[in-house]
Amino acid sequence: MATNETFAPAKINLTLHVTGRRADGYHLLDSLVVFADLGDRLWLDPGAQMSLQVTGPFADGVPSDNRNLVWRAAEAAGWCGTIRLQKNLPHGAGIGGGSADAAALLRALHGNDAARGIGVQAALALGADVPVCLHMGPQRMRGIGEDLTRLGQSVPRLFAVLVNPGVHVPTPQVFAALTCRDNPEMAPMPERPDRQSFLSWLALQRNDLQAAAIARAPVIKEVLAALTATRGCALARMSGSGATCFGLYATRDQAARAARDIAASNAGWWVRSVITCGRDIS
Ligand code: C5P
Repeated sequence: MATNETFAPAKINLTLHVTGRRADGYHLLDSLVVFADLGDRLWLDPGAQMSLQVTGPFADGVPSDNRNLVWRAAEAAGWCGTIRLQKNLPHGAGIGGGSADAAALLRALHGNDAARGIGVQAALALGADVPVCLHMGPQRMRGIGEDLTRLGQSVPRLFAVLVNPGVHVPTPQVFAALTCRDNPEMAPMPERPDRQSFLSWLALQRNDLQAAAIARAPVIKEVLAALTATRGCALARMSGSGATCFGLYATRDQAARAARDIAASNAGWWVRSVITCGRDIS
């Protein structure tokens, strides 16, 4: 029996601009998305019956029936069998969660061109973040999540620290709390920037959901302050609708040290040092 193992990396919104709202209430976004070398894992065994077993440090509270996006993705793809899902990442946390898991399953079934296999609209119907998670490289995401531009080699690999303080901020509530929905899109990204010029450009961009998320969960402000206070932190920002935030560093050692320091003084927080997908530069 062939077991298919697949990886669902953490999604990081390096920027997330809210540029408008559609008549159906969904928001128009302009977001630069990358993926980390850390994520959930799935094992798929085709069979006559659907079943889902959830394990791992963040298994608690994750449904193991058709409320789980992985289950629904399997159904949408016409696949049946046993799924084992190892939750290594906090969920409902702005770093992909169920969308990343669903996309990983679709990638396992359809290969790297999963967007063509399932169709972008079917992926979007599962969740607005599913299409971007189908491809594991840097992308610019527009529309409500369906308009994707692959950025290939133009984004440098980054050393990052992810911090989640253990609070859950529901995405619809964060969008509903926005006071402004017509913000400018991202400024043009420099062409093939080195890490320093990329970080300088990135610092001038935004996550327009950050203030609304902080209003609901003030601890996010503490997370950003803790990241900003670490040595070598070039930029600290929230990912998605929170509550996970990231800090960016020039070297792997700086990121590792920052992660150690934050974890040491905040026992309840989830803290990980990661490397993002992107162009290799020394
Ligand atoms: O599509 P998904 O289930 O991930 O979205 C969760 C919620 O986030 C939506 O119900 C909507 O309230 C909000 N959302 C939005 N605009 C987007 C994506 C999500 O308003 N582009």
